Amino acid sequence: DAAMKNGFPHFMLKEIHEQPEALKNTILPRLVKGLPDFGDDGIPDTVLKQCSQVHIVACGTAMHAGMVARALMEPLLRIPVTVSIASEFRYDTPLIDSKTLVIIISQSGETIDTLAALRLAKACGAATLSVVNVKGSTIARESDYVLYTHAGPEIAVASTKAYSVQLAALYMVCCRMAFVRGNYDREEAGDFIKQLLDAIPAMEAMIEKRDEVKALVTHLINKPDAFFIGRGLDYAFSLEGALKLKEISYIHADAYAAGELKHGTIALITDQVPVIAIATQEKIFSKTVSNIREVKARGAFVILLTKEKSKIEPGIADVQINIPDIGDRFTVFPIAVVLQLIAYYASVGKDLDVDQPRNLAKSVTVE
Ligand code: G6P
Repeated sequence: DAAMKNGFPHFMLKEIHEQPEALKNTILPRLVKGLPDFGDDGIPDTVLKQCSQVHIVACGTAMHAGMVARALMEPLLRIPVTVSIASEFRYDTPLIDSKTLVIIISQSGETIDTLAALRLAKACGAATLSVVNVKGSTIARESDYVLYTHAGPEIAVASTKAYSVQLAALYMVCCRMAFVRGNYDREEAGDFIKQLLDAIPAMEAMIEKRDEVKALVTHLINKPDAFFIGRGLDYAFSLEGALKLKEISYIHADAYAAGELKHGTIALITDQVPVIAIATQEKIFSKTVSNIREVKARGAFVILLTKEKSKIEPGIADVQINIPDIGDRFTVFPIAVVLQLIAYYASVGKDLDVDQPRNLAKSVTVE
């Protein structure tokens, strides 16, 4: 066990550190002349080109990777991109057909609801592409096309590196689709991939800053609740931040689209309630900042995650963690590291079983 942890106190921390390497392993072998090319993986361009909509289905953290992919893909590809929770989808009557590309995301490739969703998608005649980490797993075997992520084995129940490589794979699919569908020319697609690669050193930079994150969890670990807010892509990131925190620290955590707070949840914001605000998207930055002002005015303890170059008036954030100034669409990679470290140090700070949280299983193979 100690040998497998390679000097780290927990598998989760080890796996957080493995992310830059896992991203390289997932991205680099699939680049040909700087563009994503799935030749060996056998995902035909015709499928990526001809589909009229994308439907993403998964559970848990994998579903949250799907939420990020949706927010990335739809504005770029200009086709409907929908995300469903697998346990809902499987008993639904989804609007999918032979022109639908169904993307199934699963680290284990064995999650029973996700497998049932895959079978339903196939029965509806959709083309199915799975993004899977475990080689030869049931979902990988049963889907029409597979894009393996190369995270290596993930032992900690709380998923970290599997999430970031799922994202890397989905970003590559999105780029290839944009290229073959004409949303991007060769230069634009190449630039997208360059920016994706810039996310790797940005993740390393956040791993280096782990002591900053460790210091801030003192403001969380004695609190019953924490709220994560953001807009657009930042909202999709915050869903995973809240899940990570609750699953291993047992602090009740929820994510809200920042603008939705005032429709109810702001009633819960009182003195010193922690609010983790994510503001990395320039287009909506000032809007998120005004939501931060609203919670601050009610006494919230604000932990702000933003870019280095962001200009924030003093007094808005109690703690600020800056990520490098990479392209807005790629900030999920460094932000994910920060969110994972927040959850990790909160769990450690509460002296909990980081790698084996109560009631949870790594792979849910029964309904
Ligand atoms: C379990 C795990 C989660 C994971 C989810 C989906 O709930 O605890 O970390 O996100 O299953 O698993 P999958 O293997 O399909 O990605």
